[in-house]
Amino acid sequence: MEAEFDTVATWTAEVVAGLDLADRIPAACRGSGSPGALHWLLEHLEPEPGQTFFDCGAGVGGPAAFAARETGARPLLTDPEPGACRAARALFGLPALQAASELPIATGVIVAGWSLGVLCTVTDQPAYLAELRRVLRPGARFGLIVYCATHPGELRLKPPEGNNFPTVEHLDDLLHGASLRVRTSGWTDHFAAFPDGWEDVMSSVQDELERRHGKDARWRTAEEQSDRMGSLLAAGELRGRMLVVEPE
Ligand SMILES: C[S@@+](CC[C@H](N)C(=O)[O-])C[C@H]1O[C@@H](n2cnc3c(N)ncnc32)[C@H](O)[C@@H]1O
Repeated sequence: MEAEFDTVATWTAEVVAGLDLADRIPAACRGSGSPGALHWLLEHLEPEPGQTFFDCGAGVGGPAAFAARETGARPLLTDPEPGACRAARALFGLPALQAASELPIATGVIVAGWSLGVLCTVTDQPAYLAELRRVLRPGARFGLIVYCATHPGELRLKPPEGNNFPTVEHLDDLLHGASLRVRTSGWTDHFAAFPDGWEDVMSSVQDELERRHGKDARWRTAEEQSDRMGSLLAAGELRGRMLVVEPE
């Protein structure tokens, strides 16, 4: 995961820095589904202009920059990987704190935010959710994208290293255990369409990364991880669940 979320984050920032601001967002969304899914979440989260919008596990900052552009909210990012934090600061000028599941945020201060494609990469999922719950203010709304296994037991294809995909039932138990109530939910595959140009940016950045680093073992490791994820989704072994939760 270090190759994927730290080294490749740094390389991505180097390539994406050469793009216009509008094209940086598609290139810097990793694991967060499509803009349709992000819009769906924002419509339910309703962040206000100027309000702090917390992105936990923000990666290189594309989704947070998208939220800022669409709503005028002010993102605050955390990610355990230093390369990801540096990338988000450099590409979007966003405040990014290096942190995993112990958040450098006071209790009960966050009113809106999200954490996209993160839970399945976390070893201690109950602790991660409890920490998210801790920072939420009563009445807050928080968005999640969680890749869920569509059946219990072993996946039929090899999963990416270090990932742990809950079933929907297990996810519901985890959320209940963290005193987070589900307000609404959906599936990322209902928002699979991309606007014109979005996928072109993603594939040209991918081609450039391949050209620069294709022979590097860390690139090949990260690509294998990403290919395994793609195969699991294509085979229907995994689905992306979108949730809006609130503290109980
Ligand atoms: C699949 S990426 C998603 C990045 C970003 N949310 C997006 O959608 O573009 C997962 C991210 O979770 C971060 N992460 C891993 N463990 C974490 C933890 N305990 N707390 C917060 N983030 C974590 C990784 O460093 C990585 O950047």
